[in-house]
Amino acid sequence: MIAIEPSILSADYTHLEEQAREAETAAVEGIQVDVMDGQFVPNITFGPGIVRALRNVVNVTLDVHLMIVEPERYLKEFADSGADRLFVHQEACIHLHRVLQTIRELGIEAGVAINPATPLNVLEEVLELADIIQVMTVNPGFGGQEFIQSQLSKISHLRQILDERGYHTPIAVDGGIDTTTAPLVVKAGATVLVAGSSIYNEKGTVAQNVAALRASIKE
Ligand code: DX5
Repeated sequence: MIAIEPSILSADYTHLEEQAREAETAAVEGIQVDVMDGQFVPNITFGPGIVRALRNVVNVTLDVHLMIVEPERYLKEFADSGADRLFVHQEACIHLHRVLQTIRELGIEAGVAINPATPLNVLEEVLELADIIQVMTVNPGFGGQEFIQSQLSKISHLRQILDERGYHTPIAVDGGIDTTTAPLVVKAGATVLVAGSSIYNEKGTVAQNVAALRASIKE
């Protein structure tokens, strides 16, 4: 079962409720909210208020991707706002083990994301604490960027490591996911596809774009 999760980074912010509802109606498995602080990544986006607003209008899984420094400062606030899963970046956490424990103690799922330059071995000691691992296939901060092909081997290597250790942890991919790259990442072992500009764009409706993405992975 492959999950498709639109990232609202590319949505029309003047019609956010409508855009979220369109995604839900298109039967996506979740929505990813890209939180950016202008420090960890060179862009600033949403806070807990947007998560709360979305929680009040859609029932799908709300994944909150914290592209912020010291994410431990805001875990409870985002959890209380209605996030179902919080993704922190390994690169932003001095005490990643404790951060993932804290997220779980808040009663929601703990995700860890790694940037393209980050090797898999940084996750060695936290595999048991990660409910999901997100491999960034672009350098985070903006939608519409080029997919980084070198991450395909990282995805398949991560799947191999998890399988060898007996972990069924899903692998999410995020960045440049479209009808061309989706089959490649699924073949490599990804089962959660985060997509922004390939779903929210002028070329088609959300429903049409989600359907095209699903068709490309021949589910
Ligand atoms: C990367 C964000 C992604 C982004 C993906 O900066 O974390 O979620 O919205 O956008 P696309 O799918 O357009 O690459």
